[in-house]
Amino acid sequence: MSLKNQTISFIGSGNMAEAIFAGLLRKEVVQPSQILAADINHDRLVHLAEKYGVRTTTSNWEAALDADVVILAVKPQYFATAAAGVRGHFKNHTLVLSIMAGITIETIEHSLEHPAIVRSIPNTPAMVGEGMTIWTAAEQVTDAQAQAAEAILTGCGQAAYVAEEKYLDMATAINGSGPGYVFLILEAMIDAGVQMGFTRPVAEQIVIQTVVGSALYARESGIHIAQLRNQVTSPGGTTAAGLFALEQGNLRATLAQGIMAAYKRSAELGK
Ligand SMILES: NC(=O)c1ccc[n+]([C@@H]2O[C@H](COP(=O)([O-])OP(=O)(O)OC[C@H]3O[C@@H](n4cnc5c(N)ncnc54)[C@H](OP(=O)(O)O)[C@@H]3O)[C@@H](O)[C@H]2O)c1
Repeated sequence: MSLKNQTISFIGSGNMAEAIFAGLLRKEVVQPSQILAADINHDRLVHLAEKYGVRTTTSNWEAALDADVVILAVKPQYFATAAAGVRGHFKNHTLVLSIMAGITIETIEHSLEHPAIVRSIPNTPAMVGEGMTIWTAAEQVTDAQAQAAEAILTGCGQAAYVAEEKYLDMATAINGSGPGYVFLILEAMIDAGVQMGFTRPVAEQIVIQTVVGSALYARESGIHIAQLRNQVTSPGGTTAAGLFALEQGNLRATLAQGIMAAYKRSAELGK
């Protein structure tokens, strides 16, 4: 199932849906006319149509009926309402790709009465083609449908398949919520730069490029992260002093606790 000439409908066209189709359009994986964005918010649809040239509808039913791939992108608490409106309206070959946190494949399958379900946890850097998505598929998903899902998810960044659904809650706590943690760290570093005397735009440039550069270096060098840290930590030097203060502030344990709290919450929301 190639994406050529396929219609990809979004049920719920908020932040995450926009990030996915913006990433796909940016890399020209699909054309704007292949995207059909459905949402209850008419103003939001007008904005998306103007900005990306995608087709829009306020009818989830119409979006489901027309689609080869339906991406479920409403908040989990609105899924039951959205599902009631589209149940039984899919073509036999339609792939349903959920990005909703916490809603299991079994629940989606029963709610929609449709067997071909891929469940995924993406993140908002998809907006610039640098997303990270973890995904898994129901047994009934064909190889062609799985390839279509992978083409969509890798079209807006990197994607990793996992065989068991339990990894999705873990993914929610790391890549799903992760940009939130990183943005908080960026803010804290920028504020420290401003406190020392840099203007905010200069502090922002320094911090963002340092973080982007460090992440790319870690990814592309293949060197163990601890070794990369050792390389910049001279005995008695500035980095050693900075790292010591961060360890005193329990940075490692605090970050791990944050991720574990998100994991716990993800599992709670799924019940
Ligand atoms: N944001 C992330 O970083 C992230 C990461 C991983 C997974 N996710 C998952 O992605 C999903 C969407 O999250 P989001 O952050 O994009 O939320 P969002 O910005 O609130 O987008 C959801 C959109 O769906 C609309 N909507 C609500 N009920 C609807 C219905 N019955 N039919 C059609 N549209 C409806 C909302 O309209 P109103 O605003 O008018 O209610 C809103 O425009 C969630 O399930 C979340 O778990 C998000």
